[in-house]
Amino acid sequence: MTTRRKLIAGNWKMNGLKADGLALAKGLADKLKAGPAPACDLLVCPPFTLIAAVVDAVAGSTLAVGGQDCHAKTSGAHTGDTSPAMLADLGCGYAIVGHSERRTDHAESDAVVKAKATAAQAAGLIAIVCIGETLAQRDAGQTMDINRSQLLGSLPDGATPENTVIAYEPVWAIGTGRVATPAQAQEVHAAIRAELTKKLGGEAAAKMRILYGGSMKPDNARELLALPDVDGGLIGGASLKVADFWGIAESC
Ligand code: 13P
Repeated sequence: MTTRRKLIAGNWKMNGLKADGLALAKGLADKLKAGPAPACDLLVCPPFTLIAAVVDAVAGSTLAVGGQDCHAKTSGAHTGDTSPAMLADLGCGYAIVGHSERRTDHAESDAVVKAKATAAQAAGLIAIVCIGETLAQRDAGQTMDINRSQLLGSLPDGATPENTVIAYEPVWAIGTGRVATPAQAQEVHAAIRAELTKKLGGEAAAKMRILYGGSMKPDNARELLALPDVDGGLIGGASLKVADFWGIAESC
């Protein structure tokens, strides 16, 4: 019997100008206000440029707002970066850290991801720590080893179910339309929870949410979200349309 409330999180990535981003956020907030609300927490992570406006647009609804990344420091000489304190100041409740696109595009190591997650938590944010193997790693039989080492390398020392969410995003499933099978997703999610049990103890591991991400859509969400160790989704493409994101949320 699990008490984990599912989290459906939209990662808008580098998408959205003012008009369409605000329409998307307002569309979701209006649906939440009108009810009935889906049986999950809902989060959107817009690009930094839209966070302040989105926070205003969804005020009065239960839609949470988060950042897609953050720096490991609170302030200072880091041109172009955004600190966790700045995100919290705008009204964010979450920060995604260690997304595979950041690991690739910005050469972020596990140590960097851990520092960012630690800083996010210190600022009062919930860190969504992303891990996941590439296709080459899966084909080489390294899936479990890669996810274990990314998890242990990226997880902050003070991680709790209240300040941490794990997101398993197989890189080969991101933006490809090639979704993990339920068996593949459950196998990795269960292994992640087993590692969390070793590291944090059974009680914390049983409460910590582990999201699946990678080509989740309204038509495949139900079977993924029904898996025993899948506690929600981190959604890219399908988070950019109200109907698709809402459809996934309703699958909870
Ligand atoms: P897609 O849902 O577009 O595959 O993206 C998943 C993702 O990377 C969410 O962080």
